[in-house]
Amino acid sequence: MSTEGPGLTFVVQPGGQLAGRLRVPGDKSISHRAVMLGSLAEGISEVTGFLTGEDCLCTMKAFQAMGVRIEQLGPTHLRVHGVGLHGLKAPAGPLDLGNSGTSMRLMSGLMAAQAFETTLIGDSSLSKRPMRRIVDPLRSMGAVIATTDKGTSPLQFSPAASLKAIAYDSPVASAQVKSGILLAGLYAEGKTEVCEPEPSRDHTERMLRGFGVSVDARPGYAAVQGSQRLKATHIEVPADISSATFPMVAAAIVPGSDVLLEAVGINPTRTGIIDILRSMGATITLTHERMLGGEPVADIRVQGAALKGITIGGDVVASAIDEFPAVFIAAACADGVTTVNDAEELRVKESDRIAAMCDGLTALGVSAIAKPDGAIITGRGNASPIGSGTVDSKGDHRIAMSFAISALRATGPITILDCANVNTSFPGFVALMGGAGLRISERVAS
Ligand code: S3P
Repeated sequence: MSTEGPGLTFVVQPGGQLAGRLRVPGDKSISHRAVMLGSLAEGISEVTGFLTGEDCLCTMKAFQAMGVRIEQLGPTHLRVHGVGLHGLKAPAGPLDLGNSGTSMRLMSGLMAAQAFETTLIGDSSLSKRPMRRIVDPLRSMGAVIATTDKGTSPLQFSPAASLKAIAYDSPVASAQVKSGILLAGLYAEGKTEVCEPEPSRDHTERMLRGFGVSVDARPGYAAVQGSQRLKATHIEVPADISSATFPMVAAAIVPGSDVLLEAVGINPTRTGIIDILRSMGATITLTHERMLGGEPVADIRVQGAALKGITIGGDVVASAIDEFPAVFIAAACADGVTTVNDAEELRVKESDRIAAMCDGLTALGVSAIAKPDGAIITGRGNASPIGSGTVDSKGDHRIAMSFAISALRATGPITILDCANVNTSFPGFVALMGGAGLRISERVAS
């Protein structure tokens, strides 16, 4: 399951343009939730467009280990034989969730409610990530959970006598925390409510409704009444806007580039990257807007242009939270200073993304000054603003893919270390981006 170690290196030759019609893999957040809710439903759910990246496969294997039959009928087509809210069985051992914070925090809500013991573990990155943010509210619902002294995994769940509903005022805008609590709320007596400082992605609320559960939700608030049954359904997973971000930014930073991304999810809680790139001067056109499996989707065309530096902060941060590594690259290629504020959450992602991006940009000759909640990046906007060199992705998929696209505007080759985790969210990245014009190759360390 683990893809740890510096085994895979990307080498990207400088220059080129991006062109073509691309379909990036399925949405990671929606794919996780499809497996989880499909497993808890009564009946057989079909999932199409599923992301077969390592993170979602961890979720799938965890539910299989708890007795759920999940058939893989095609490369992205699952059939999930739901066992009902109370049908999960004790797994034979700890559930290994690899690199996936979404699996661990959402499943915490479910494991808290089971009548058997479970232990959730992950790789070295996941084992460092903060879990008190989900464990504390679950404990206040009555859950019995042990963590390390630092509040990290392994997380050990023991059966609770019962769970009671809470009204939780979350200090962070986190869909993982919100969703973990709502999933526990399905098993609680009463109405479980979550308020957030800014609206986070609402895929759990939308998908619960798709499974026939009544959810009370508006931006920044979600609530669910306990003991509702889920009825099997068909989930069509749109392409992931967070993966589409790499070809979008790659096209945006190279005048003359022109790409069309097909059937990308444009849930308003996720479209901050479109707003940010447009503010920087990119030409972005949405066509063929429609609904797919309860989520809005569109084809997104991006044409390269000269970008300008901007100030980013406030509400847009939550709706672009996974896109900042790529935004930092756009900033390096823009004319003028880009300041990112209010983004302290970037420090507790798969890596400390503020440090990883500022270190890497500095190694490539770009002025990038880290702040506790963001960075100040001075873009040079000229022909080749990025130098040649080697950067460490810190095993973080989005850091690796961001530096890969930066080579389009570099003076010489860029080597990126520790890239195996790109498979957690974007299997086929090298082939897809290579086919569209990125001069990328892989090297496996011997
Ligand atoms: C996710 C929520 C976000 C995001 C992550 C996926 C989800 O995390 O960064 O990649 O699927 O709920 P937070 O909840 O920590 O903001």
